Amino acid sequence: MGMIFDETYRPFFEAANAQGIYDPVWGACHVELAAVGSRTGQRAEKYRETAPTTVRGFHSFTEPRAVGQVVEADVDFVCVATPDHRHFTAAREVLAAGKHLLLEKPSVLSLAELDELQDLAQAQSVLAKIVYHKLLDPDHKKLRTLVADGVLSHVNHGYCSLLEPKSISGDQFSEWIQGRNPGTYVAVHYIKLIDFTFGLQLARVTCTGQRGIVGPAGGDTWDSTQLRLIYEDDHGREAAFDIHTSWVTPDNFPGYVEQEVQFRFDNGVWNGHSRKRGVECTIEGRTPGEFKNSMNNHYNGQFLEPWGIRSQRGYGVEVLERFAREVAYLEFGGSPEQRPNRLEELRRLTYNDLSADRQTVAAVQAMEAILAKHAAGTPGCVVKVNDPSGGLVLYSPGSSTPEILYAPPV
Ligand SMILES: NC(=O)c1ccc[n+]([C@@H]2O[C@H](COP(=O)([O-])OP(=O)(O)OC[C@H]3O[C@@H](n4cnc5c(N)ncnc54)[C@H](O)[C@@H]3O)[C@@H](O)[C@H]2O)c1
Repeated sequence: MGMIFDETYRPFFEAANAQGIYDPVWGACHVELAAVGSRTGQRAEKYRETAPTTVRGFHSFTEPRAVGQVVEADVDFVCVATPDHRHFTAAREVLAAGKHLLLEKPSVLSLAELDELQDLAQAQSVLAKIVYHKLLDPDHKKLRTLVADGVLSHVNHGYCSLLEPKSISGDQFSEWIQGRNPGTYVAVHYIKLIDFTFGLQLARVTCTGQRGIVGPAGGDTWDSTQLRLIYEDDHGREAAFDIHTSWVTPDNFPGYVEQEVQFRFDNGVWNGHSRKRGVECTIEGRTPGEFKNSMNNHYNGQFLEPWGIRSQRGYGVEVLERFAREVAYLEFGGSPEQRPNRLEELRRLTYNDLSADRQTVAAVQAMEAILAKHAAGTPGCVVKVNDPSGGLVLYSPGSSTPEILYAPPV
């Protein structure tokens, strides 16, 4: 019931509740927000007050057994949008109860956790999918189209950056920010974008970062991080990507979340910038606080539609509807005997299936391990992927003993 619920799940559930979802193959489905779970229930009750009357009837369950009670309620699928390091236990409970799962990014923080969830999803014959909204960004879809069509050929290197305002680390996430970093939270968007768009094999990971604003300079809570990923293609050619993230950008920065990507190919360059998509607006006394000077209307915009109704379009909100449509197709898209075939078909969708998240989780696990070593006094570690010693292996400067983070191949 946090920020991402408000920005994308709420608009999705409200629209799906009002209009249902339809496909000629499986007919019309009503989508009801049946139950929610959160730590204290405060934001759920606040939402109930403002929700459309037809949505207000949801159950609200709180800790200590928030997820347990949600899965016992009459629900068909469960969306997990808890803080990053609390995804795994919630997701495991959902799958163990035989419910379809939609998990926020980053899916989980280690490959061992990923294996456990995947085994559970297999055993229970349910969908386990992940939300990567950035794959739905129209610019990123175009990038992937040009790569898939061979118009842009062989990516060589790239740079991505995402800068969140200080209010995110200081206020919105203050309950769970201790010991966390902005890389896991937002670099993961770009790790997935690179992984999904370019189809390369991850080879090495390095990372560094800065501390001293959100927490003590020698502590384990990070203000900003710089991650470097080295990939290889099938011919042994390498590609390197730097991903810079921060959650301490001044709140009066003219754009809300600054996002920039540059990818350089054998035959081209792609530059994308969230604040240079076309709109600059100044309103006396109201920008850049209440309104931002450079509005990113591809993100979470509130609009007056030409036909007179007010709408809110969460960023990539269609990925949530797409998941509901996948569930509907699985359950109602043909005979029960054919369900295993439909399940396999849906699991082959690599944009959202848990089974396709291995390299992304490997990069996140490596980044977290490198930052933990750094905070404990050993900066400059490198993690190698599918090394002779194991699937994910950490090498510390000055030490000849590698640390095996994950033994099987990634
Ligand atoms: N896809 C995106 O673009 C995007 C954007 C923002 C956040 N996210 C992801 O969504 C997740 C949530 O982020 P947020 O910004 O909404 O965070 P938030 O801190 O605003 O909200 C977290 C929510 O989780 C609940 N919660 C915390 N611990 C819980 C527990 N043990 N059991 C049940 N509920 C618990 C809290 O009550 C709160 O409602 C994160 O994993 C984040 O990475 C994704």
